[in-house]
Amino acid sequence: MDQSDAPLMAASLEALGDRYNGMAAALFDRFIADHPHYAPAFLNPEAARERMTRETLEAMLGLAAGEWWVDDAVTNFIDLHHNYADFTPHDYAAWFALVIETMAKRAGADWPAGASDAWQRQSDELVAKVATVSRNQEVPVRA
Ligand code: HEM
Repeated sequence: MDQSDAPLMAASLEALGDRYNGMAAALFDRFIADHPHYAPAFLNPEAARERMTRETLEAMLGLAAGEWWVDDAVTNFIDLHHNYADFTPHDYAAWFALVIETMAKRAGADWPAGASDAWQRQSDELVAKVATVSRNQEVPVRA
C-alpha cells in the first residue's frame, strides 16, 4: 500500500494549526446551504459537526497511513448516515471536497504545495469504498 501521502497530510494539518478552530461550524453552514434538500436531515448540527469533521479527517489520514480499521470506519459511517438519509457516493465526494478546499483556504500561503492533491487521493479512494459497501438491511433509511 502506498503511504507516501501521509507525511504531507500531517504537515498540512500542522500548517493549518489553530485555524482548524471553528472550521466544523463553517463547513456545516456551507454544506447545508449548498445542499438545501438535506437541511431537514441535520436535526442537531451543533452536536454533530465537530465529530463529523474529526472523523472525516481521521478516515482520510487512516487510509493514507494504511490503517487496518479504515474499511470498518467506512461501513460504520455509512450505517450511521442511514439514520439520517440515503446519501450517495457523490454526496460523500462533495463533503470531502469541501473539507479539503476549506482547509486549504484557511491555511492560505502556509498550505504546503501538493497537500490538496494528497488529501484528494484519499477522498477518491474512500468514495470508491463507499460505493462498494453493501446496504445493511438492518438499518432503515429515514427519507
Ligand atoms: C467521511 C464522511 C463522513 C463522516 C466520517 C461523518 C461522520 C458523522 C458523525 C460522527 C456524525 C455524528 C453522529 C452522532 O451524533 O452520533 C454525523 C452526523 C451527520 N452526518 Fe455525517 N459524516 C460524513 C459525511 C456525511 C455526508 C456526506 C453527509 C450528507 C450528505 C452527512 C450527513 C450527516 C447528517 C445529516 C448528520 C446528523 C446531523 C445532525 O444530527 O444534525 N455526513 N456524521
